[in-house]
Amino acid sequence: MGSHFIKYILVKYPGYKVINFDKLTYAGNLENLREVENNPQYKFVQGDICDREAVNKVVEENKIDAIVNYAAESHVDRSIMDPDVFLRTEILGSFNLLEATKNFNLKKMVQVSTDEVYGSIEEGSFTEDSSFSPNSPYAAAKAGGDHLCRAYFVTYKTPIVVSHSCNFYGTNQFPEKLIPFFITNLIEGKKVPLYGDGKNVREWIHTSDHCRAIDVLLHQAEAGNVYNIGTGKELKNIEITKLILSEMEMGEEMIEPVKDRPGHDRRYSIDCSKLENDFGWKAEKDFETGLKETIAWYKNNPDWWQPLKNGEHAEYFKKQYLERK
Ligand SMILES: NC(=O)c1ccc[n+]([C@@H]2O[C@H](COP(=O)([O-])OP(=O)(O)OC[C@H]3O[C@@H](n4cnc5c(N)ncnc54)[C@H](O)[C@@H]3O)[C@@H](O)[C@H]2O)c1
Repeated sequence: MGSHFIKYILVKYPGYKVINFDKLTYAGNLENLREVENNPQYKFVQGDICDREAVNKVVEENKIDAIVNYAAESHVDRSIMDPDVFLRTEILGSFNLLEATKNFNLKKMVQVSTDEVYGSIEEGSFTEDSSFSPNSPYAAAKAGGDHLCRAYFVTYKTPIVVSHSCNFYGTNQFPEKLIPFFITNLIEGKKVPLYGDGKNVREWIHTSDHCRAIDVLLHQAEAGNVYNIGTGKELKNIEITKLILSEMEMGEEMIEPVKDRPGHDRRYSIDCSKLENDFGWKAEKDFETGLKETIAWYKNNPDWWQPLKNGEHAEYFKKQYLERK
């Protein structure tokens, strides 16, 4: 997602200098930024947000005036298998960025977080005032980072804005996330493993809409505020699966029901009226159109995702698939 935002910002604000500070974990991929790598306004620095000195150095040397924190371990299944790194990146990493924002007097930090911190809701929607009730190690680690953001604003008036977004989809998404995982499995002729009864509900936002929302928060939101970012487009996992199958002209025999994820939240739903009321922001991309474009992109770019799925990550994908049976 961070690569989409970098490209968006460079086009919309050609005078800005953007520093991409990324550890390049398994999910980081400089291929996604190939088209801007020679742009003089763009610079890549490899580094870990858990390394305080490296963070301070990049902020000081480049006279950074704002931070948008997209860096995270972001896959719930991995957080169940190996929570350690999630806690470090989400909590210690966010802490280092808050310290840098405070100590170097930056104008703004935007924390990119998730609706998963609120936990599951059967009916209605969470507002920004709802309390946190995270159920996976991923969500708990994100909640920890978000609590620190709040504490830094209350204690030090650090200029921080926190966003809680629903699920992203779009191009260049690592093929472990539901939509690209299912699309690429089907392109490979493999079945799609669907958790439990498939009735877990998620809300979906296209990467382009999420970029627009973060742009608004970076430039217009007052420090200390929290905003939900969503679309109202709620779908059961089985409904998304059927949409993908239909678009790819395949039948439901390609669905393989598998054991449910432990602690699997039933439904996420967020109320985004604050973002709309304050700034007139609304999602623009229609889900069915965005999904069609996403499927077409994965079909046309096997060179991007095949090495990720079949190279050094093959064991992970095999394990993820087998463990779901
Ligand atoms: N994917 C979603 O549906 C979703 C939904 C809501 C919020 N979010 C949040 O949005 C952000 C981006 O999510 P994504 O799906 O693009 O994630 P991703 O896993 O695809 O990418 C994460 C990026 O962060 C980098 N990174 C990881 N640890 C780092 C560290 N310690 N130091 C520096 N860089 C590091 C990786 O190299 C990679 O480039 C995350 O904060 C995530 O929690 C994601």
